[in-house]
Amino acid sequence: MIDLVETEHQDFPFVNTIALDGPAASGKSTVGERLAEVLGFLFFDTGVMYRAITLAALEAGVPIADENACAALAETTQIDVQSPSVDDGRPNDILIDGIDKTWEIRTPEVDANVSEVSAYPGVRRALTAQQRKIGQRGRVVMVGRDIGTVVMPDARLKIFLDASVEERARRRHVERVARGETSEYDEVLELLRRRDQIDSNRDVAPLCAAKDAVEINSDHLDADEVFELVLNLAQERELE
Ligand code: CDP
Repeated sequence: MIDLVETEHQDFPFVNTIALDGPAASGKSTVGERLAEVLGFLFFDTGVMYRAITLAALEAGVPIADENACAALAETTQIDVQSPSVDDGRPNDILIDGIDKTWEIRTPEVDANVSEVSAYPGVRRALTAQQRKIGQRGRVVMVGRDIGTVVMPDARLKIFLDASVEERARRRHVERVARGETSEYDEVLELLRRRDQIDSNRDVAPLCAAKDAVEINSDHLDADEVFELVLNLAQERELE
């Protein structure tokens, strides 16, 4: 079990760490999970935390527009990531205050509200602190929007994975249909455009590539090709 609140100090922060950033549905999780498995690193998807706080707000009836209340939730909500307890395609169990919410954090309602919640400085402060503690343990592939720029600015390898919004919408739509969910391509596209807009233009930790990140556009690359590229980069930097 990964207790995200647990602290473990190391003298040299962010040794053996990979920061993998990019917009929604750019394929970060797919490549990050494979990379972590091959290297024997922890895979840590920070988007899960922003989704968990958004879900907690929706369930508690906290208005998404109430910045202070959302920040207070981020300070007090316990998010745990554990090995999967059910064989239903989940990479992990996601527990919010001890209750399994693995699939609930992926609903269209959370998708539609998560970028607003993520833009609040108080929410980011609370979650960034927890993410750094995980990074300081080393041997982690951390995935998000601001990992190379803010959370682990000293990461050994930084990747910025991008693709056109149309291609990302197509992938997300196919994913949803494969899970047996109803999905309309045009709606997925519109929502991604809106989330990109908020994620890229917020004042605190906006989505952008770190100066020293390797930028990969995956419009014309399949998942295997992206994985090979990223694995080569990790090996060049002697991550192990
Ligand atoms: O899976 P998908 O790419 O749709 O999104 P995600 O990685 O689960 O992240 C959900 C949302 O959380 C993003 O749209 C961002 O608004 C926010 N996020 C963030 O602000 N910073 C991060 N490090 C990770 C996610």
